[in-house]
Amino acid sequence: MTGSLTIAGLGPGDEALVTPEVTAALATATDILGYAPYVARVAPREGLTFHPSDNRMELQRAAHALRLASEGRNVVLVSSGDSGIFAMASAVFEALEETPQYQGLPIRVLPGVTAMLAAAARAGAPLGHDFCAINLSDNLKSWAVIEKRLRLAAEADFAIAMYNPRSASRLEGFGRALSVLKEAGCGDRLVIFARAVSTPDERIEMIKLSEALPEMADMRTLVIIGNSATRRVGRWVYAPRHAR
Ligand SMILES: C[S@@+](CC[C@H](N)C(=O)[O-])C[C@H]1O[C@@H](n2cnc3c(N)ncnc32)[C@H](O)[C@@H]1O
Repeated sequence: MTGSLTIAGLGPGDEALVTPEVTAALATATDILGYAPYVARVAPREGLTFHPSDNRMELQRAAHALRLASEGRNVVLVSSGDSGIFAMASAVFEALEETPQYQGLPIRVLPGVTAMLAAAARAGAPLGHDFCAINLSDNLKSWAVIEKRLRLAAEADFAIAMYNPRSASRLEGFGRALSVLKEAGCGDRLVIFARAVSTPDERIEMIKLSEALPEMADMRTLVIIGNSATRRVGRWVYAPRHAR
């Protein structure tokens, strides 16, 4: 009997931002795997087994999901936001490279609403022109790589969406990122701090980069740095569609 593996993004928090396609996959799943707080977002029901795991166990979790699918289970591996953005989809394909015997399994990747889109919509349209997304965690890449990407993104005048800006174990990085951008001449750019978007704890702040402090971000915050033309209109922030 062949099972299946569905890799699904649960969106930023609000039930209304879970796509109908993901909801349908959850309704027919036999097993849900994922980081424990994300698994907890799925409603229990008879016949559904939960396999929550720790934050840094992505490869083991991916291998576990593939093994269960090969045993005939209908597995859904959940991430927050979109599963392809700093989340589990890449980990599954990494695991698949190591286990060619699973490469014939039916695997689907279902898109979800990623945090930067939910945050941008709250602010207005700060991603309306060219932009990039950078993960500020240095768990899987060096800080030198992060700094280089920030400097080049500033030089190219991209708006920048920053994921994972600051955690209890990485208190320094976000301050360094702000310094790199200030040194690159971005002090006048608008910055959006979007915390816990689409949850009851949501908080949106918009200020100039020169006024931004490291403590304004935590692990529930998505930070968007505007490009040099990003501006306010009323209570909104938007990037014009044209480049100067
Ligand atoms: C490991 S990444 C996962 C990203 C996720 N796959 C996505 O597409 O949104 C976790 C980071 O996403 C951002 N994030 C996730 N949910 C968020 C929310 N509801 N509000 C603001 N930022 C969020 C934060 O920057 C957090 O540190």
